[in-house]
Amino acid sequence: MTQELSAAWDHHAPTYGRLGAPFTGYLAQALFQTVAGRLPPGPRILDVACGNGELSRAATLHCLTEGAASGRKGSVLATDFSAGMVALAAKTLGVLDAGDVVRWEVQDGQALALEPESFDAVFSAFGIFLFPDRLAGWREAARVLKPGGLLGTAVWRGPEDNALARLQMGPVMAALPERIRAGLPRPSWLDITTREGLEAELASCGFQDVEVSVFDAILVAPTPRVMWAFMAENPVTLPLLASCTAEERAAVERSVVTSFEALAGGADRAIRFDASCHFAVARR
Ligand SMILES: C[S@@+](CC[C@H](N)C(=O)[O-])C[C@H]1O[C@@H](n2cnc3c(N)ncnc32)[C@H](O)[C@@H]1O
Repeated sequence: MTQELSAAWDHHAPTYGRLGAPFTGYLAQALFQTVAGRLPPGPRILDVACGNGELSRAATLHCLTEGAASGRKGSVLATDFSAGMVALAAKTLGVLDAGDVVRWEVQDGQALALEPESFDAVFSAFGIFLFPDRLAGWREAARVLKPGGLLGTAVWRGPEDNALARLQMGPVMAALPERIRAGLPRPSWLDITTREGLEAELASCGFQDVEVSVFDAILVAPTPRVMWAFMAENPVTLPLLASCTAEERAAVERSVVTSFEALAGGADRAIRFDASCHFAVARR
């Protein structure tokens, strides 16, 4: 299961790096800045499910700047279970010429091969919330944090509070055949789309002083078809289409593209989505 999933993310990595990361990268950097002021001098920082490494880039720049000021640089470890994503992160982080301040490794966030109590801060932007065993992900983050260390994580809000989720999934669901729609399990991440759900889950996994804030942003995709191509290949939406026949899949595509073209005002126009997520900061 883990191997199949990491292979799906490997396959998606180039598209994610080109289309997803510029957007989530902005959010990941904002998440890091939310916590940066509370980090100790020379912090040891772990990024779980780093994707193409945007949060780790912000963390590395923080360490370099702080290091120049205080002489204590700290370190950043960027990890992801997809070797394709880690290769993208290596590119993003390699150009910083940060020497031994930053490293990157393939690591499953549900079972980190890392020492307990070895980090001052653990981040996961839109990472752990997607794991099949999400509780293992939070517990692993708590295990590798020093007592009092900080967790910073970003989680999408649900369709009722997040137009991005609503506008993406509405036309998919409307066109999926009933036989598939009826058999779909309720996605478990819906349990943590609310502030209360996220607070309770983190508290149950070893975190305290959980603070949840709303962060809104605008995602712009170049065209409706590009956005559809991104969705169709994404390991989160891919399973919805996996059991469709070619005809059924074509109907879903028509539904999504028609809806996106109406939103964009044409096939060749950029399409804009209002998006909303939660940032959670907590102490171990
Ligand atoms: C939506 S992307 C987020 C990437 C990045 N943090 C960002 O903000 O752009 C989800 C990431 O989670 C990674 N991922 C999924 N399951 C994982 C696991 N069990 N362990 C480590 N990484 C995982 C994927 O490979 C992918 O890079």
